[in-house]
Amino acid sequence: MAFLPFALPDIDETEVQEVKEALQSGWITTGPKTKQFEAEFAKAVGAKHAIAVNSCTAAMHLALEALGVRQGDEVITSPYTFAATAEVIRYFDARPVFVDVEPRFLNLNPDLIEQAVTPRTKIILPVHLGGMPANMDAIRDVATRHGILVIEDAAHAFPSSYKGKPIGSVSELTCFSFYATKPITTGEGGMITTDNDQWADRCRIMSLHGISKDAWKRYTAEGSWYYEIVAPGFKYNMTDIAAAMGIAQLRKANIMLEKRAKIARAYHAAFSQLPQLQIPFDDAAQQHAWHLYMLRLNLDTLNIDRARFFDELKVRNIGASVHFIPLHIHPYYRALYGYTPDDFPVAYREYMREISLPIYSKMDESDVQHVIEAVTDIVNHFCR
Ligand SMILES: Cc1ncc(COP(=O)(O)O)c(C=O)c1O
Repeated sequence: MAFLPFALPDIDETEVQEVKEALQSGWITTGPKTKQFEAEFAKAVGAKHAIAVNSCTAAMHLALEALGVRQGDEVITSPYTFAATAEVIRYFDARPVFVDVEPRFLNLNPDLIEQAVTPRTKIILPVHLGGMPANMDAIRDVATRHGILVIEDAAHAFPSSYKGKPIGSVSELTCFSFYATKPITTGEGGMITTDNDQWADRCRIMSLHGISKDAWKRYTAEGSWYYEIVAPGFKYNMTDIAAAMGIAQLRKANIMLEKRAKIARAYHAAFSQLPQLQIPFDDAAQQHAWHLYMLRLNLDTLNIDRARFFDELKVRNIGASVHFIPLHIHPYYRALYGYTPDDFPVAYREYMREISLPIYSKMDESDVQHVIEAVTDIVNHFCR
């Protein structure tokens, strides 16, 4: 079998056609395609506003800015995440206050949030790891009691839902990623959704240099040459080329999800037979986006570690990944806050035995079988 990459985008003629239209229209940066993508995305998640930007990192930066995060503020978040979730907090010289994850879904542990709240806590920023929604009822409960606002890092979580409500319409602001490996992609891209007019306006203005309303229209027939800078904003707007891809991806988002869910079911069926493996937990009340299939190794039943397991997959022509190296063990956060690995023991322990397998709609049945056979073969070879 040829090498199976860890992730591949699902691009076909519809994306090519949409992008071609954008290229030939003469309007390649933020314009009609971006507006269309925003309107269709807002509808898909049941939010009043959707603001398209060039990454989820930008989306989270803008969301924190719109809610008025300042130097010295605290934002409660998960250590079990990608760099972006906490770096955007540091942009403000605010403090990411890590709260350990619960062992099942590796999302923020609601039982530990309350004790992390201080008078400086401004925001709770949960991450829907791998596409499984965090416990939003419990998070909302703490937030409401303490007058704290919630921004969701939904980089992995489109399309998904929490107790029947689409992620994107649950909290004050939600941030999505359309990075190349994400469930829908625009190459690079992101989206903020909210029902709040004022926050939506602020995000839009700050996404384009802090220029007063509809800056993108200034080169259209109805636009004006005149504009006003109301704040030192950022250059975070999405291009129409990217949005064109997004429009085509959005149309097939549910079909792609169903294909990923089918792969997850095939993996579950095969790997639940092997006591050396812990399959991802599922929860019937939540719609999992199945962005990641996060397998965990029962290391005491194997005579190899995760690194060797990873290498063995590679030898068998399978690309894998690890999600995530917890933020508190990275040099920057260790130096800044003096963390040791055991400060967030669940995050550290689970990271040490996690390995993410390929799960994407471009995989065919033989690819899925290839992964199942390779994993089973490694387990049989190296079980104690
Ligand atoms: C949990 C999480 N949050 C945020 C991001 C940042 O997304 P982007 O690359 O669109 O900025 C990522 C990207 O991988 C992520 O995994």
